[in-house]
Amino acid sequence: MAVFVSHSEEETLCWAETFAKTLKAGDTVLLEGEMGAGKTVLAKGIARGLGIRAEVTSPTYAYINSYEEGRLPLYHFDCYRVASEDYACALGFGEYFQAGGVCLVEWSERIPSLLPADCKVIKIKKTVGGREIEF
Ligand SMILES: Nc1ncnc2c1ncn2[C@@H]1O[C@H](COP(=O)(O)OP(=O)(O)OP(=O)(O)O)[C@@H](O)[C@H]1O
Ligand SMILES: [Mg+2]
Repeated sequence: MAVFVSHSEEETLCWAETFAKTLKAGDTVLLEGEMGAGKTVLAKGIARGLGIRAEVTSPTYAYINSYEEGRLPLYHFDCYRVASEDYACALGFGEYFQAGGVCLVEWSERIPSLLPADCKVIKIKKTVGGREIEF
């Protein structure tokens, strides 16, 4: 476990951009942290690091945004409003984890039984001076 201390959104973006270089096809990364901690900022930085130029925004429609233009396909999940695991399963969430891209999952605690066994985890926490990123 290592910790990076970020003092600004831009530092978090840069850290995530570098982290993205370590990702391989089929990786799932759980982005953990309270509301407003910076999970979506991490997703934006990871997308940048994969070479995605499109603007990454919080997934709302269907809970998942897909980006195909980078080094690997990117699937960005926000499970905050997912009503149940059965519903998520019916929407085909499970298939994204098998699709050979990179899955980033916000609020993964809403879909524990759908997650692959060997997920990477990044925890982001608000601190007085900024954010602590544990990975
Ligand atoms: N060091 C930092 N790293 C990341 N974000 C920061 C930092 N300092 C301030 N921020 C701000 O914190 C906010 C993080 O918002 P973000 O949408 O990424 O949170 P989130 O964890 O995805 O929340 P939600 O659970 O609602 O989806 C942004 O407005 C960002 O500008
Ligand atoms: Mg978010």
